[in-house]
Amino acid sequence: PASTTRLPAGDLSVGGVPLTAVAERFGTPAYVLDEAEVRARCRAYRHAFPDAEVLYAAKAFLCRAMAHWVREEGLGLDVCSAGELELVVSAGFPPDRIVLHGNAKSPYDLEAALRLGVGRIVIDSAAEIARLAAAVGPRGRQKVLLRVVPGIAAGAHHKIRTGTEDQKFGLSVADGSAQHALARVLDQPRLELTGLHCHLGSQITSVKPYLAAVRRMTGLMARVREQHGVALPELDLGGGHGIAYRPGEAALDLAALSCRLRAELSRSCAAAGLPEPRLLLEPGRAVAGPAGVALYRVLAVKRTRATTFVAVDGGMSDNPRPALYGVGYAPRLVGSAAARGEGAGSGAGSGTGSGMCDATVVGRHCEAGDILAADVPLPSGVRPGDLIAVPAAGAYHLSMASGYNLVGRPPVIAVRDGHARPLVRRESLEDIRSRDIGL
Ligand code: LLP
Repeated sequence: PASTTRLPAGDLSVGGVPLTAVAERFGTPAYVLDEAEVRARCRAYRHAFPDAEVLYAAKAFLCRAMAHWVREEGLGLDVCSAGELELVVSAGFPPDRIVLHGNAKSPYDLEAALRLGVGRIVIDSAAEIARLAAAVGPRGRQKVLLRVVPGIAAGAHHKIRTGTEDQKFGLSVADGSAQHALARVLDQPRLELTGLHCHLGSQITSVKPYLAAVRRMTGLMARVREQHGVALPELDLGGGHGIAYRPGEAALDLAALSCRLRAELSRSCAAAGLPEPRLLLEPGRAVAGPAGVALYRVLAVKRTRATTFVAVDGGMSDNPRPALYGVGYAPRLVGSAAARGEGAGSGAGSGTGSGMCDATVVGRHCEAGDILAADVPLPSGVRPGDLIAVPAAGAYHLSMASGYNLVGRPPVIAVRDGHARPLVRRESLEDIRSRDIGL
């Protein structure tokens, strides 16, 4: 599918809708979501993994329309709270196609999952086994997966690496806690263990860690079979598939992942004499990320000797990723402002040609670290009133948005075939006031 990171200079439309029109009609800041791109990305997964169960990781971005699109395209869902779960079920998502995650699931999470009848619950700790069994009750039986630590380091930043020993998720094979938990779950008549789960981390652009994970996990499944005589039917390899945030950056190659993963699974299972388990995958970012664009209005431009600070009407409250992970984006001017600065043939990301300057796009929040993109090329004529678009903004922006400085969360606008419609409205002052009980 066409990625918004590859918008040519001068192409200022997403889903056939000019971004200037979105800004005019819905205001800024706003998040624009390309429905066709989301759907195409879902279809690409179905095509690459026709026999696997692909679960969209709702934590990347969730609203009811998104759940609806994902369902129509044949994906299931990975949720990690009662909130995500209740929202998608209220949108008609079939609960049996939902997997519940969490290293510290609350009683509400478990209650909602059991009441609504989620397909599987991923057990993340030893303590959860008894808690879940008690919640299921004597007559019930819940399908579960067990999350194990594969002992593989992968992921773009230490804060999003979850496959190594020394982090909070899952049960360790190295110290025996996974084996112990496995025996307990298999002994528990209220729980039906359908398979094992691991999640390596996020923003992974190489296929290799996934192949290593297949070897580790099938090795463990072979031991389960030897010790307990059970051939587990499912293997969930989590998500983590990386995307390009800037022109020229590599994304994880889905076709290569599919081809090599399936080959490795066949080989490892044949070597261990195991029947091949059904694969489950949980991509979040790779489905939603490239389909979203963050749209801001420039409010102030400050030129110091070293830098041009371009201050916009959003910032770390709608996109905490640069502050959290130090990641880079490729913002660009849109509309007539872009034409003003970018001469023919030069585009954002193509370097500082004539008429371009090194700019640092900052937010409106009360800290110096509220930087959306440092040292990026923008037309030197950039001025207040101009519009700025940040591509690849569909995942882990709004889902991690905060209420900092009470600026209100931006709306989500879906675009498709030249039409725009709001999916989530802007958080209003009234929304903010209504939660505050007062004196
Ligand atoms: N499955 C599990 C169990 C997960 O914990 C996650 C992400 C996923 C699937 C989906 O991973 P994805 O395909 O989206 O990489 N806030 C960070 C990313 C945190 C990912 C958390 N878990 C960021 O903005 O980069």
